[in-house]
Amino acid sequence: MWRKIFGGGKSTSVPDGDHLPSNFAIDHGALPRHIAIVMDGNGRWAKAQGRSRSAGHEAGARTLKRIVRAASDMGIEVLTVYAFSTENWKRPQREVDFLLNLFDSFLEKEIAEMHAENVRMSFIGRRDRFTERFLRRMEDAELRTANNTGVHFNLAANYGSQDEIVRAVRSLAARAAVGEIAPEEIDAELFSNALDTAGDPPVDLFIRTSGDLRLSNFLLWQSAYAELYFTDTHWPDFTPEELARAIEDFAGRSRRFGGLDAEE
Ligand code: IPE
Ligand code: IPE
Ligand code: MG
Repeated sequence: MWRKIFGGGKSTSVPDGDHLPSNFAIDHGALPRHIAIVMDGNGRWAKAQGRSRSAGHEAGARTLKRIVRAASDMGIEVLTVYAFSTENWKRPQREVDFLLNLFDSFLEKEIAEMHAENVRMSFIGRRDRFTERFLRRMEDAELRTANNTGVHFNLAANYGSQDEIVRAVRSLAARAAVGEIAPEEIDAELFSNALDTAGDPPVDLFIRTSGDLRLSNFLLWQSAYAELYFTDTHWPDFTPEELARAIEDFAGRSRRFGGLDAEE
């Protein structure tokens, strides 16, 4: 069954799933093309319930599945989520191991369904500290879904924006050193294409759950003009309804990009 979810102007029909709020109506042109989410607060959610941090991370993985589907149904082009930062290795080994195993089983369990739903999956971040098994699973997921035309779902694992920028600078410097490009050719576009998110539009809407008001080294370059949305909701409690509210809030913002509003 299909139903219209966008009101007014150019509207789009999407599959009628159980993952979309029934009253979601946003003009297609007002949708953010790229949404980034810092999925924070699994630990605080668990603590509030008297449960282990691991239980919080498991609940967070279930939320992620629902949100990928909702973003896909809403017609979002790119969804990039922060799952593990270059700084998260500082956590106790037990928690790090638990998270890495959780990513592995998330992929194993969900990739077939995401593929069937036309999701194109990629990973951003460093790949040098993962097990061979997980690396293979990541590469398989990317290859298998490479030609899908639905939402581009980027999972940031062992990702840090500063690290990504340094890697991009090094790759451009190496190309310049062998004469493949001239230093003067390096501009914002060439630089963007040297990042892990090459090919994706810049972040329009940057969401962080669980109340902290910081970026924590996520997509610093890509979010140069992103609209920020902070919510106290812990990630496991984040719903497609709240995603829709964030998008509605975004649609009401005046984005000037340094210029003036049209009527001024
Ligand atoms: C986010 O939840 C998940 C990861 C960083 C892997 P946290 O584990 O940071 O939860 P809090 O911030 O301690 O509540
Ligand atoms: C950011 O959350 C990283 C992820 C959500 C994966 P953190 O919990 O690591 O961030 P800080 O330490 O509060 O800045
Ligand atoms: Mg946290």
